[in-house]
Amino acid sequence: MKKIYILVSLTLLAACSAKLIQPTQSDVDRVSPTYPGYTLADLNQGKVLFGQTCNRCHPLKNPTGHTADQWKDIVPKMIGRLKKKKGEDVISDQQQELILRYLVTMSGASKH
Ligand code: HEC
Repeated sequence: MKKIYILVSLTLLAACSAKLIQPTQSDVDRVSPTYPGYTLADLNQGKVLFGQTCNRCHPLKNPTGHTADQWKDIVPKMIGRLKKKKGEDVISDQQQELILRYLVTMSGASKH
């Protein structure tokens, strides 16, 4: 019986720590027609902000779990929720844009 509990806990732990794909320059190159001037530093900053912001109410969702178009709907909705809870100045428009760009970019990354 004890073994089963341990197994279940381990499975839950593994499921909760969403492994994020490390952004690379080729991800930036893929979206550069859409986001002129976008850099790997912007992409990485978006990743950090996503990790700090989007796990406040639920575990982090995987960027590849939704399409670019879905993220464009979801991110403003979620940020709206966060602002309602914590106040308008909890996150800037620029930070929101970095999170959106990160998710849009990495939604198109190949899974590996
Ligand atoms: C203030 C709380 C809160 C924050 C912060 C938050 N979410 Fe959510 N999120 C929710 C709730 C509640 C749901 C489930 C209810 C729903 O989907 O309407 C949800 C559901 C989701 C879903 C599933 C919905 C779907 O349409 O499939 C995704 C994807 C998601 N959140 C992404 C994000 C991202 C990305 C961020 C960061 C920008 C974020 N969330 C931040 C509260 C939050």
